[in-house]
Amino acid sequence: MVSAYSSSNVSAVVLGFVFMISTSMVAFADKFYQDFYITWGGDYHAKMLNNGDLLTLSLDNVSGSAFESYNEYLYAKIDIQIKLVPGNSAGTVTTFYLSSTGSSHDEIDFEFLGNVTGKPYILHTNVFCQGKGNREQQFYLWFDPTADFHTYSILWNPQNIVFLVDDLPIRQFKNQESYGIPFPKNQAMRLYSSLWNADNWATRGGLVKIDWSQSPFTASYTNFNADACIWSYGTSSCESNSNKGAWYWKTLNYADQGRIQWVQKNYMIYNYCTDTKRFRQGIAPECYLTNFP
Ligand SMILES: *[C@@H]1O[C@H](CO)[C@@H](O)[C@H](O)[C@H]1NC(C)=O
Repeated sequence: MVSAYSSSNVSAVVLGFVFMISTSMVAFADKFYQDFYITWGGDYHAKMLNNGDLLTLSLDNVSGSAFESYNEYLYAKIDIQIKLVPGNSAGTVTTFYLSSTGSSHDEIDFEFLGNVTGKPYILHTNVFCQGKGNREQQFYLWFDPTADFHTYSILWNPQNIVFLVDDLPIRQFKNQESYGIPFPKNQAMRLYSSLWNADNWATRGGLVKIDWSQSPFTASYTNFNADACIWSYGTSSCESNSNKGAWYWKTLNYADQGRIQWVQKNYMIYNYCTDTKRFRQGIAPECYLTNFP
């Protein structure tokens, strides 16, 4: 057809082609219903919306809410965007963590401790190996986490665990098994997230209680992505896959170490490695081996 070669149609074709190229290079986020199911508050407290692109958790005086992944992972790079409970969120805790099950479980934690309006959230992190935690590090954020979505990531591979906020590494737990320090590598983990009442400890150590007149409290999630080795029936999807992807080999280079130090110097408010009052019997051995500021 002659009209197909008119200049406006040509540019439409060119535009369409450019669009195809650019969209094919974007890693599309999964739909929440593909990866997760609601485990708590499925009545109306937890919802998958926008065709599975958005998930909301809420908390009121009836219930909190939670979801978990169908898949178990044995190493993963997990990214999720979260917009935290706005306004007076004191006493609420929003969590996002990887965990195995059983009495000597492994766990990698992000927990967001709410606050009264205008006061900062605390980002609380922890690493459990074989049932033992006590590796808390806490941070303030350099932005208001309730105003927009921000990306929170866990990189867990054989070399290290890295916590990232908007791609900025904030914490690294290295695999130092060669020094006798345990590292999570034998137990597959699921991804969990929840919003619940923790006003006995969360805000100013439990001094500030939830103001239920502000409920429901709602946190929103979008753009979940997992680059992962999926564990199923005793085998890992990575065993048969020689091309594991860059995430599997990633450690922190010199520039990343500088970024971590910037965050830790300016935003870290608690570090188990320096809490000699709490750990009178001695500071954890990994603290001596890792470079801390
Ligand atoms: C809440 O704000 C207070 C300051 O009023 C601050 O000391 C505290 O660290 C903030 N965050 C939490 C979760 O308590």
